[in-house]
Amino acid sequence: MSGKIALVTGGGDGIGRATALTFSSDGAKVAVVDVRLAAAEETVALIQQAGGDALAVEADVADEAAVEAMVAATVNHFGALHCACNNAAQGAGFKAIEELQHDKWDRCQDVTLKGVWLCMKYQIPAMLNSGGGAIVNIASLSAERGEAMQAAYSAAKGGVIALTKTAAAENAQRGIRVNAINPGGILTRSLAYYLDKVPGAKERTMAVHAMRRFGKPEEVADAASYLCSDRSSFITGHALNVDGGITVNPHTL
Ligand SMILES: NC(=O)c1ccc[n+]([C@@H]2O[C@H](COP(=O)([O-])OP(=O)(O)OC[C@H]3O[C@@H](n4cnc5c(N)ncnc54)[C@H](O)[C@@H]3O)[C@@H](O)[C@H]2O)c1
Repeated sequence: MSGKIALVTGGGDGIGRATALTFSSDGAKVAVVDVRLAAAEETVALIQQAGGDALAVEADVADEAAVEAMVAATVNHFGALHCACNNAAQGAGFKAIEELQHDKWDRCQDVTLKGVWLCMKYQIPAMLNSGGGAIVNIASLSAERGEAMQAAYSAAKGGVIALTKTAAAENAQRGIRVNAINPGGILTRSLAYYLDKVPGAKERTMAVHAMRRFGKPEEVADAASYLCSDRSSFITGHALNVDGGITVNPHTL
């Protein structure tokens, strides 16, 4: 990542914060984007304390004007854009399909799916002007397997994978690679909140991981850094599971 300019959405907490910190320690200058500016500024302070260079940008990824301004602010400040991790997302609560509210469905799609499209819409031209680049979109294992009570979120994440493959196809000959990551259960503040709230959720969720543990945000960040770096130069259109073996869970003996 040395010498690269990177952007991370939802960089104010969890996987986004860990990714911004990892991009920085791997040598990139980082625009940390979040709908909560104070949270983005906290991440920037952590990067600066570690000797890195970062910029906090406030943007709601569902808002096209804000997304356009976020990319412009990054290019104006650092002079280019080479890497992006489109990580911001919003769920619609835990509801069965027939109980799901229309406004919650719409907001989930707007942030989680449309937000990724809007980000790429402005990141791709900026990367073409910067001599090429790499994008990593954070999807979810919910896209691959479906997830009870998470219809809006799972559908949006399925869309993120389809969007990733389409963007990879469109840009393969233009020097831009586009990949996705499907995290399993990653112990962030938001997952911890859910696990504490729902009785038995912690044990049940941990049990679906073959490794019988949750992931750390840094483990997703390392995969994002690899997929954004030149070390993955022949990989595009791939959705990488970072999931402690959810898909190989052996319910045998
Ligand atoms: N934690 C997990 O177990 C897990 C599993 C699978 C996928 N994921 C995905 O990983 C990503 C990060 O998850 P997390 O657990 O770190 O989340 P988090 O809630 O800890 O952090 C999300 C960050 O995104 C910001 N954000 C929310 N809406 C935004 C918007 N509209 N515009 C800009 N920023 C916005 C929030 O302010 C927050 O700082 C998400 O895409 C999530 O769906 C997480």
